[in-house]
Amino acid sequence: MKRIEFHNRENEMKEFMNILNSEPSLITFVYGPINSGKTTLINHLIKQLPEEYTPFYINLRGRFITGYEDFLNVLFEIDESDATNNVGEYATSTLKDLKILSGIPIPINLFEQIFEKKAKSKDMFRYIERFFVEMSAERVPVMILDELQVIGDMEINGHLIYKLFNFFVRLTKELHLAHVFVVTSDSLFIEQVYSEAMLSERCKYLLADDFDYETAMAFLDHYGFDMHEKEIAWHYVGGKPVSLVRLINEKRSEKKIEDVAGSMLMLRTGEIKQRVKVLKIIKKKIFFEDEEIELKYNDTIKVLNEFLDEESYIYDVITPEITYLVKENILFADPVKGTLTPQSQLNLLAIRAVIKDA
Ligand SMILES: Nc1ncnc2c1ncn2[C@@H]1O[C@H](COP(=O)(O)OP(=O)(O)OP(=O)(O)O)[C@@H](O)[C@H]1O
Ligand SMILES: [Mg+2]
Repeated sequence: MKRIEFHNRENEMKEFMNILNSEPSLITFVYGPINSGKTTLINHLIKQLPEEYTPFYINLRGRFITGYEDFLNVLFEIDESDATNNVGEYATSTLKDLKILSGIPIPINLFEQIFEKKAKSKDMFRYIERFFVEMSAERVPVMILDELQVIGDMEINGHLIYKLFNFFVRLTKELHLAHVFVVTSDSLFIEQVYSEAMLSERCKYLLADDFDYETAMAFLDHYGFDMHEKEIAWHYVGGKPVSLVRLINEKRSEKKIEDVAGSMLMLRTGEIKQRVKVLKIIKKKIFFEDEEIELKYNDTIKVLNEFLDEESYIYDVITPEITYLVKENILFADPVKGTLTPQSQLNLLAIRAVIKDA
C-alpha cells in the first residue's frame, strides 16, 4: 500500500507552538472548512510535542453520545488494573508509561464513584483538575477535544457544554494549568461560540484552512505532478487536502487528472443542484433560533448568486437559507472574519454551474 505522508503546515504548527510555549490562559478553538486537515494537523502536532507536554486527545466523532454517562465513557480512559484512591500517586505512575492518551486516565473505583453520582458533573471536573494539578509538577497537560459540537448540538446554553466551557475557563484563565484546544468543522457551532458571552475574551480562534497555493504546489511536486497537472488540480480542487490526496492516488493509477477532476465537479454540481432545487418542489423547514422556519428558494439562490463573481463575501446576518447551505456543507461561515465562502474550490465551481443553470 502506498501511503501519503503528512505534508508540513509550517504556519499552523508555528501558531500551535507559540500557544504551547506560553502559560495557558485562553481556550483555543481550532476551526476551518470540512476536510481541511484539522484532525490530521492535530495528530501530527501531538506526535511532535516535546516531552514536557502530555496530550489527551478525545475525538467525539462517531461516538454514540446520548447523555452524560456516554460522555463520561468517552472522556475517561478507565484503568481496570488500578483501584487506588490516591490521585497524586496515580497521576505520576500513569505518566511514566508515556503514550498518547485518548482520554483522562482514571482508576476504576474512582470512575464508578463519579458514574454513580450521575448528574453531578462537578465530580468529573474535580477529578480532572486534581489529576492535572498532580501531573503538572512533571508535565504540561494538553487537552484536545475534536468535534466537540457533537454534544453541543446547537444548544450552546445547554447543560453540559456550558459547564464544560466553564471548566475550560477554569483550567486556562484561572489556574493556568492546562492547554485546551477545541477542534470543530461545524462553523455554525463556532458562530454560536463566538457570540457566547461567557467565552468572550477567554478564548482565541485558530483557522486551519485548506492549503494555500504554495503549500498545495509543494505537496503535488512531491508526488511528481507536472506544471499542467498542478494547474488543473488547483483550478478544480484548490488546496483541499482530501481532494489533492484523491488526485495523487488517481495519478498513481495512471488516470488523467483532467478526467478525474472533471467528474468530481460534475458529481458535486449534481448534488448541490439537488439540494437547492428541492426547495422549489417541497416546503422544507429548518430550526433557526429555536423556531421552525420555511426555506425560501429565491433567497437561497440570492445567497449563492454572490459567488458568481466573488470567492467570498462579508455577511450581514446568518439567515435560515445560509444556515441550510452551511449545514449541507456547501458554504462555510467564518464568524471571526465575518465571511461566507464555499466549503472548497470544487464547491465554488459547482455553485457557479448551478446558478448559471437556475
Ligand atoms: N497535512 C496533510 N498532509 C497530507 N495529507 C493531509 C494533510 N492534511 C489532511 N490530509 C488528508 O486529508 C484528509 C482529511 O483530513 P482531516 O480528516 O484531517 O480533515 P478535517 O479538517 O479534520 O476534516 P473534518 O472536517 O471532517 O473534521 C486526511 O485523511 C488526509 O488524507
Ligand atoms: Mg476532523
